[in-house]
Amino acid sequence: MLSQATQRPADGKLAVLMPGLGAVATTFIAGVHAIQRGETAPIGSLALTGRMPGSETLIHDATSLASLDDLVFGGWDIYEGSCYDAAKRANVLRESDLERAREELSKITPMAAVFEQEYVRNISGPNVKSAPTKAELAEQLVADIRGFMADNGCDRAVGVWCASTERFVVPSEVHLSIEAFEKGLREDHPAISPSMIYTYAFIKAGVPLANGAPNLACDVPALVMLAKREGVALAGKDFKTGQTLMKTLLAPGFAARLIGVRGWYSTNILGNTDGAVLDDPGSFRTKEQSKLSVLESILDAETHPELYGNLDHKVRIDYYPPRGDNKEGWDNIDIFGWLGYPMQIKINFLCRDSILAAPLVLDLALFLDLAQRSGSGGVQEWLSFYFKSPQTDGEVIPTHDLFAQLDILHDRLEELAVQAMAPAAE
Ligand SMILES: NC(=O)c1ccc[n+]([C@@H]2O[C@H](COP(=O)([O-])OP(=O)(O)OC[C@H]3O[C@@H](n4cnc5c(N)ncnc54)[C@H](O)[C@@H]3O)[C@@H](O)[C@H]2O)c1
Repeated sequence: MLSQATQRPADGKLAVLMPGLGAVATTFIAGVHAIQRGETAPIGSLALTGRMPGSETLIHDATSLASLDDLVFGGWDIYEGSCYDAAKRANVLRESDLERAREELSKITPMAAVFEQEYVRNISGPNVKSAPTKAELAEQLVADIRGFMADNGCDRAVGVWCASTERFVVPSEVHLSIEAFEKGLREDHPAISPSMIYTYAFIKAGVPLANGAPNLACDVPALVMLAKREGVALAGKDFKTGQTLMKTLLAPGFAARLIGVRGWYSTNILGNTDGAVLDDPGSFRTKEQSKLSVLESILDAETHPELYGNLDHKVRIDYYPPRGDNKEGWDNIDIFGWLGYPMQIKINFLCRDSILAAPLVLDLALFLDLAQRSGSGGVQEWLSFYFKSPQTDGEVIPTHDLFAQLDILHDRLEELAVQAMAPAAE
């Protein structure tokens, strides 16, 4: 629920801080500058081009989102080069787009990362912090956030995790309470991952954070409780972009028409650094869990066991360097209809991973800032629209149907628009 507090206006500069300045982050930053220069429209950004439900008014205007001109970008990475170097390495942008973004991207150099090889096995780099304990690493991150804001004259900040997928972690004792988590930080507990240390630091700095990767981070109970206590907005997890976006577009259609689904086999080839990271079984397991979770709530086996009670769902990702960021996904869907007669649907999606993810980073940054200015701390379920594994508060079962997620988003935007019109609090 929104608090009764009135909304703070989006005055002043907003720092957009990203752990992980790789393909997604640099494509996002380059795109924002291209939009500002008037070279392109903000394609795929609901925040900038969407309308309020049943109205001609732009969401951006109705809810008073931050202006693109007020965004200042920064972040952390294990590599030392500038964002221009990172964008060149990522090889997402055409040479001409990269060169037009050169000046802006070259100005951004990553702050030293909190990184542990144990959590991401297939990459390593020199730009990494060291400290005697994880508690001190968190303090360094808080100092980074505050320092960045002061150096760049920012009034507010927002975070979007764009770093690599960490290995699969099952929540344990150290994640269950704020006290246990803080003790774990002080004692360097091995089950506290770098992404959890970042999340803790963002919350302590009073800065909202979205998790674009599938690893356990914003969603451990201790950090959810801390975010609620400190009134900091959190959202996650795992950007819903390619194959899973297709799934959550199609499955609601099968469910609406009561078409049976016997199996859904999905496979991908991906050749970027994300693909290299996911080639490690620990990181792949994290991604697999996230991708597998989407069908169950849409194709409801409890209500329709005859249609969905025997569904086989498989997901594969193969690292295949020649394709770089241009992922190719294949889906084979075994459906059945009248008299149980089987049919098949094949999807072949030739997509561009970071091109699909970049507008999500922008929307999440703008909407999370709005949530924070509106006094809405804790888990932001209304942002489920953007995630493969939507984070919910407590026992609420996440909604995966993209259209249902859009309705939830619109409902909350209507509330926030009303709040934006209320007179400012003293
Ligand atoms: N592109 C998509 O469509 C999409 C969809 C869903 C999720 N994601 C997730 O988004 C994330 C970013 O994707 P990408 O394609 O930009 O990957 P990338 O490999 O190009 O960039 C990730 C960057 O994070 C850095 N990094 C790793 N651990 C770090 C740490 N602890 N602190 C700071 N930096 C760290 C890496 O050095 C790298 O530069 C990945 O986790 C990916 O799984 C992407």
